[in-house]
Amino acid sequence: MFDFQLIIDSLPLLFQGACVTVQITAISVGLGLFFGLFIGIAQISRVAIFRVPAKIYVDFLRGTPLLVQIFMIYFALPMLIGTRIDPFIAAIVACSINSSAYIAEIFRAGIQSIDKGQMEAGRSLGLNWSQTMRFIIIPQAFKRIIPPLGNEFIAMLKDSSLVSVIGFEELTRQGQLVIASTYGAMEIWTAVALIYLIMTMPITRLVAYLEKRFKSNDRN
Ligand code: ARG
Repeated sequence: MFDFQLIIDSLPLLFQGACVTVQITAISVGLGLFFGLFIGIAQISRVAIFRVPAKIYVDFLRGTPLLVQIFMIYFALPMLIGTRIDPFIAAIVACSINSSAYIAEIFRAGIQSIDKGQMEAGRSLGLNWSQTMRFIIIPQAFKRIIPPLGNEFIAMLKDSSLVSVIGFEELTRQGQLVIASTYGAMEIWTAVALIYLIMTMPITRLVAYLEKRFKSNDRN
């Protein structure tokens, strides 16, 4: 029997978990955006000491599972530095680092999609390379990268469930805890899935809306 009352009784706890999930996602994607921009630019730099480490960073983080990265930061790193790390910090660091690699690729692709004549035009107006990047290339690239950034946000929201393995109490972990005391696996996992869906739907819509808006005033 499907026990609806159990879902209703567990909602406060699940809701608390959902808030933590949103928090960790927002912080990770926020930090990811900041570092991703620099790493993305470094990837297309002509200077090898910027480009090569940036490429290795992105390849490593995209080529290994987030789950393993979480284990490395939470279990392996403390052996190296000799002190334990708070699960919250470990979760944020793992998700931010991972997200920054995906976002770096988004920025790189966005920047490279801008016609190279734009850089030449900027330079011939007397702007230097970083001014042209800042005032001409990045603003144009930005609207092209809104859809993939939206996707990254949604992906991170769901993938943040992986930090439940280090006991960090986000939505998935909260679901496990509720099940441990109520045995309502069917009800609680259904509720957890629906809460994730409810959280991702508005973002999907928002991204579709922004994409449409930016397209309508696109002249190139
Ligand atoms: N599922 C992939 C992994 O396990 C990606 C995880 C992170 N996702 C993201 N969009 N940052 O490595």
